[in-house]
Amino acid sequence: MRILGIETSCDDTGVTLVEADGEFGSDFSFSILGNALSSQTDLGLQYGGVFPAMAKREHAKNLVPALEATLKGLSQETGGKRQGEMPEEELRKILEREPELLPQLVTFLEQHEKPDIDALAVTAGPGLEPCLWVGINFARALSAAWDIPIVAVNHMEGHIVMSMMEHSNILENVGMSGKMYAIEFPALALLISGGHTELVLMREFGKYEIIGRTRDDAAGEAFDKVARMLGLPYPGGPHISRLADEARSYRPTRSIELPRPMMSEDNFDFSFSGLKTAVLRLVENKTVSDDTKKQIAREFEDAVTDVLVGKTLRAVEEYGANAVILGGGVSANRHIRLCLAEALAEAGAKLLVCPPEFSTDNAVMIALAGYFHALKNEFADPETLTANGSLKLG
Ligand code: KG4
Ligand code: ZN
Repeated sequence: MRILGIETSCDDTGVTLVEADGEFGSDFSFSILGNALSSQTDLGLQYGGVFPAMAKREHAKNLVPALEATLKGLSQETGGKRQGEMPEEELRKILEREPELLPQLVTFLEQHEKPDIDALAVTAGPGLEPCLWVGINFARALSAAWDIPIVAVNHMEGHIVMSMMEHSNILENVGMSGKMYAIEFPALALLISGGHTELVLMREFGKYEIIGRTRDDAAGEAFDKVARMLGLPYPGGPHISRLADEARSYRPTRSIELPRPMMSEDNFDFSFSGLKTAVLRLVENKTVSDDTKKQIAREFEDAVTDVLVGKTLRAVEEYGANAVILGGGVSANRHIRLCLAEALAEAGAKLLVCPPEFSTDNAVMIALAGYFHALKNEFADPETLTANGSLKLG
């Protein structure tokens, strides 16, 4: 089955074409036939974060070029004369709220034959609603033009499914292929991203029970806010991580102490806003030296890691989990990966995680998660498909 994945939930525009085969488990395999990802990091840098209205316009600008790049070489060009009927009136209606998209898409459809695609998979939530809508309306338009069904995908399930994949061959993303790690349930998913921090119990594939979540800031949000306090660019995670590694390389012991919020509380919830405030106390109204910034970055990363690892281990014990699936943008963090891997090895549970370049948002994860729904004929009705900014797992 060939699935076209579309991701626009936050500030990354992703379009991908994945070919997948087999049922969930050891006979599953996939390859990425085309993949385009454009990140709005420059805009974020300029404004220090993501603004929904601005991000929405960027998605609208980026989607057709991303589709073109993804299908390059796969979809035959018609030289401007498209075969068959194009429902232009219908497209106009579907893209009523995305006026920037319509002319680009009409031109694209006129110049390209219908590609060999079986289904569309699009993120329906959670995320920024104006952004989600662009992707959804784009999928609805393609579905009408090409007469193929749509799967509505939960973005967090996308992160989970991505981390269950064992990648065998990475060639600049395109031409990449892989299969699935052997996994024994019950498993836990630790999802850490810019908008979410959740511990999810999976007794079987596709069944999710959220057993813990953040009570305030998400882990990625805390990384981004602390980075900003230290004068580092957006998104802050990778910059904090780089400074923390530098600090570890030249000073073996820590010189700053930050709290480990909720670490020893008997539950699976998290809280990161106190940690962020503790950092603020250290830097406000002061000139902070480069060395101090590095020490703060290191202690902050250690504190977040200790809490994430501590709570996850406790959940592994409580639920007898055999595996932990680590997903979401913050899971690109090397220190968190290493510490969790070490702790889980000791506890006798397996760590499943994807290559760091697929930890942050992308459309491959949406196509892969969509495939398993398509296998079960779980398609959305394009007429009633809606964006849900706070869509929950389970
Ligand atoms: O999953 P994601 O791409 O978008 C959301 O769905 O939110 O996650 C983005 C988050 C940002 O907060 C970013 O700072 C963080 O992931 N991030 C990192 C690292 N790379 C990205 N945080 C810590 N260390 C990293 N290496
Ligand atoms: Zn994400």
